[in-house]
Amino acid sequence: MRSHLWWQHGVIYQIYPRSFADSNADGIGDLRGVLAKLDYLAWLGVDALWISPIYPSPMADFGYDVSNYTDIHPVFGNMDDMRELLRAAHAKNLKVILDFVPNHTSNEHPWFEEARRSRGSEKRDFYLWSEPGRNGEVPNNWLSVFGGSAWEWDEETGQYYYHAFLKEQPDLNWRNPLVRQHMYAAMRFWLDQGIDGFRVDVLWHLIKDAEWRDNPPNPDYVAGQAPYNQLIPAYSTDQPEILEIVREMRALMNEYDERVLIGEIYLPIRRLISYYGTSGDGAHLPFNFQLITLPWNARQIAAAVGEYEGSLPPNAWPNWVLGNHDQPRVASRVGLSQARVAAVLLLTLRGTPTLYYGDELGMRDAVIFPEQIQDPQGKNIGISRDPARTPMQWAPSTHAGFSSAPPWLPLGHDYEHCNVERQTRDPDSLLSLYRRLIELRRKEPALSVGSYRPLVSDGDLMAFVREADEGPRYLVVLNLGPRPGHLSFDALGSGEVVIATESRREAERVKDRLILTGDDALVVRLDA
Ligand code: NOJ
Repeated sequence: MRSHLWWQHGVIYQIYPRSFADSNADGIGDLRGVLAKLDYLAWLGVDALWISPIYPSPMADFGYDVSNYTDIHPVFGNMDDMRELLRAAHAKNLKVILDFVPNHTSNEHPWFEEARRSRGSEKRDFYLWSEPGRNGEVPNNWLSVFGGSAWEWDEETGQYYYHAFLKEQPDLNWRNPLVRQHMYAAMRFWLDQGIDGFRVDVLWHLIKDAEWRDNPPNPDYVAGQAPYNQLIPAYSTDQPEILEIVREMRALMNEYDERVLIGEIYLPIRRLISYYGTSGDGAHLPFNFQLITLPWNARQIAAAVGEYEGSLPPNAWPNWVLGNHDQPRVASRVGLSQARVAAVLLLTLRGTPTLYYGDELGMRDAVIFPEQIQDPQGKNIGISRDPARTPMQWAPSTHAGFSSAPPWLPLGHDYEHCNVERQTRDPDSLLSLYRRLIELRRKEPALSVGSYRPLVSDGDLMAFVREADEGPRYLVVLNLGPRPGHLSFDALGSGEVVIATESRREAERVKDRLILTGDDALVVRLDA
């Protein structure tokens, strides 16, 4: 394990800071709130926290619209709080990863304010402007992820500007060397403060087709999906030049020790892996969202794991993500019973796991009434991300122990029984299962850094073996469905169940063949 870096054998925990812990009774989480919960994170056993954006922002997209890349929004605290958080986290051996949002700024960023002043503004070329069509129409058919055209008319200067997300999030022109220079300076600023890495927002969007060609229609579009999916974003995303920027970012990170560059990339595996670069010069971890995007089906998941494992370039390190602030919660996608199986899968696959706050409790999507919707995506296209962003459920007390004031988003209705305080005391809780899985993973080289060998995927069953140069081998068997099943593994001999979704099976001796009940997963330590 010594030959592996922290971001390879470690577990990453995502914090959505508005919703994690509120230290100053304004109903919104903050950095001092995170600071107060470091003991919890250390107890859970994670190695790194990734904190969603905490920079000054008008909050049109809750911080993903940055108006200053090198400061802290007062709602989250100030630079001293950030420094203290870093110091305290490092003292507990926890790394801190910041979210970096290079594709777009806020429309209130001084660059954009300057750029829109006149066509001759020195910052004009920091953004993407285009003339209207002959009849004043938009330059092309590109759509905004959050609904409508991706082009916004600027009356003052008589041109359109491009925004992949809200019109309050104008896209930067990454072909402009000055944009790169400024953004790299912002990265250095945080690296010099001692942060341990970045999760780079929408990395695959950075460069757009220079000729603004129309995107083709998507023949697989199904009514009810986000309108953005009506087109294939062939010209507005995933352009080859992006890889040059990724290489530049990586070279910058390489000037510092052991920092991690993570990219948010929603692409099929064959495209995703190109973001690793050709010779270890790309992102350390292009986020792999297959456990989120695939149907919860053993055959498809096992096939995707196989395809991913088989296509990784030499020395590329795999990773797996089970949830994030943009997606329905895993416990709502697959159900509470399968959320336990999902925990075993996430923490036993080969590669760095990323876990979304509250998923370790089985927090579910909360009910948000229409008048309570905060998320601009929910307001614009009716696909709200608020249900997965509700306050962390710490305790059965007022406001779930998140704040002493009413929180900015309603609480999950189940917080009185689904919370940290209760689950800490219950050895059979999902939280206890997560904690034990993380502990075992940390202790056993086979699970943290060992090889992955698929055994079977049949019906709802999936099984694989993990093995390292030192320590025991492990057999992992998962039942992704509610019906019972069995597995023959005679060639592997015998072993002992060390973790099971149904804890009464722990310490059970198994040999040649084992039985699984529905919604069951077992981690078996194989005899030498
Ligand atoms: C991806 C982020 O995860 C999401 O929350 C945000 O709305 C978009 N990027 C735009 O920055």
